Amino acid sequence: MRIIRVDNYEEMSKKAASMVASQMILKHDSVLGLATGDTPIGMYKELIKIYNDKEIDFSDVKTFNLDEYYGLSDDNHESYHYYMMNNLFKYVNMKSENINILSGVTDNIEEECSNYDEKIKRSGGIDIQILGIGVNGHIGFNEPSVNFEAGTHLVELDKKTIESNSRFFKSMDEVPKSALSMGIKTIMQSKVIVLLANGEAKAEAIYKTVKGKICPEVPASILQLHNNVNIIVDEAAAKLL
Ligand code: GLP
Repeated sequence: MRIIRVDNYEEMSKKAASMVASQMILKHDSVLGLATGDTPIGMYKELIKIYNDKEIDFSDVKTFNLDEYYGLSDDNHESYHYYMMNNLFKYVNMKSENINILSGVTDNIEEECSNYDEKIKRSGGIDIQILGIGVNGHIGFNEPSVNFEAGTHLVELDKKTIESNSRFFKSMDEVPKSALSMGIKTIMQSKVIVLLANGEAKAEAIYKTVKGKICPEVPASILQLHNNVNIIVDEAAAKLL
């Protein structure tokens, strides 16, 4: 694991965007694995700037998002579809057919999930996967007690995750209790992984991910077994390292 310590959120965002941009410059038809949440918003803003400066081009790029809430349609303002459109896709020249996000309203979950993994494989695999991390060490929506061998699947959300994500919803009742998520197996097959974490609330999860034992209770700890993981952390998130 490569630990990249930065002073603050802005520096974390810039470093992550530079890594994605370099990947896109090296391979015009790169396959990007994308994340949602508060953490990568700054990185998306930086990528839009780099795009506006004409240094990168999204026209041949393919994207696969990590996850989507089960039960939320694409136009729901809390869905990850909506997030991606409004934080990145509408500002760059992505082709809509190259954007892949799991459907939260599929009536055939199994097929939706296996098709997703199949499509990632057919596209040549993910060149660079961006990850955030939950306070409980989840990646994507792979919650504690995860099966490390699972591909994309439906997950029941952990109490802690429902609590932290309730900030985006009007009430606790509205927070979806399940989601479709790329599995650990799928994430581990990415060629390069970039995990971003900022703020003290993530310090314990980062400590366990980097220094703890590899166990399903800390889903991100499995990343210790990947040969190209870069963890960009600000001072607060790196506090316990
Ligand atoms: C969400 C997402 C994750 C994200 C995590 C942290 O539940 N499914 O992909 O990394 O929570 O979110 P945030 O960046 O808002 O702290």
